[in-house]
Amino acid sequence: MAHEPTTVTITGAGGQIGYALLFRIAAGDMLGPGRPVRLRLLEIPQGMKAAQGAALELQDCAFPLLHGVDVTDDARTAFDGTDIALLVGARPRGPGMERADLLAANAGIFGPQGAAINAGASDAVRVVVVGNPANTNALIAAASAPDVPADRFTALTRLDHNRAVGQLSERLGVRPDAIRGVAVWGNHSATQFPDVEHATVGGVPVERALADALGGQDVATRWLDDEFIPRVARRGAEIIEVRGSSSVASAANAAIEHVRDDVLGTGDDPTSAAVVSRGEYGVPEGLVCSFPVLSDGSGYRVVEGLALDERARRYVDASVAELVAERDAVRALGLV
Ligand code: NAD
Ligand code: LMR
Repeated sequence: MAHEPTTVTITGAGGQIGYALLFRIAAGDMLGPGRPVRLRLLEIPQGMKAAQGAALELQDCAFPLLHGVDVTDDARTAFDGTDIALLVGARPRGPGMERADLLAANAGIFGPQGAAINAGASDAVRVVVVGNPANTNALIAAASAPDVPADRFTALTRLDHNRAVGQLSERLGVRPDAIRGVAVWGNHSATQFPDVEHATVGGVPVERALADALGGQDVATRWLDDEFIPRVARRGAEIIEVRGSSSVASAANAAIEHVRDDVLGTGDDPTSAAVVSRGEYGVPEGLVCSFPVLSDGSGYRVVEGLALDERARRYVDASVAELVAERDAVRALGLV
């Protein structure tokens, strides 16, 4: 059956991640080879030339699935009738900027964009926030879109999930697709908890495989606490240090996989995404928190019923405390 084109809006489309996203979406990597797309590129006036240039290049690719590209600096136009929104454009932290300043500056972006989604997006719209601080930006956008069900707003932690799988794959000497059940909990920040407690490799618990590979349970636990968790949680900073700028292609890849699994379904293999908490695992309702999730194609749902031991609980609670502090900071500014 021929599909109507799906309208996909990308904010910050003239930036680095935007450039890495557009061509893969237009080639069918996000929604599959049977789903044509119409792209809407939103930029601020300073970014318009870059977005317009990308639109010219998209035309030059002559992608069969691409049914049009619009470039605009008007949020209402960009989100009118949109089915999928990737909110990438954000205000980076500048010199001397405190976290509260950063949250306020981004609220000035994600508040109006949430309102524009509320005003004109399709009834079935799904939104993923990539721009940092992603979880709290998603909270702000959702709060500014009271007519859109809050569970349509998610934030990207798939990059953290993929980073965790990448590290385990290297340490255990196995292909990444042999690893299942990794979960990233909390904030997309250095407090996140990449958790392998319920993960398996070729059907064997990852913790047992690590103990066998590293020479005992204690060594394996030390590797997880002292190397794996900090490496994954600070991988964004490591990339900045080594590359000289933040992750781009891996972030775009993760955003594509996040939307693909949300819209087309995960099957029975859980992944990680930051979704609006309904109180699962004691995470305060309304926070946009990363959990293990599954989707049957109708949106991410938290995988419930996993046992969290005391160590895991400590990690989860620390990251959730940071999300609460971010929420309280934007609440104090009257933003949510
Ligand atoms: P970039 O600076 O190259 O591009 C950002 C673009 O957004 C710019 O072109 C800018 O003009 C545009 N922009 C700014 N305000 C806008 C607005 N109100 N509306 C529309 N466009 C706007 O940055 P990048 O490398 O593409 O990264 C984008 C964001 O993604 C950053 O916040 C970065 O920290 C974040 N990021 C998140 C993850 C994640 O896993 N969640 C990973 C990597 C990067
Ligand atoms: C990342 O995880 O690569 C980005 O969020 C950039 C950063 O500042 O960590």
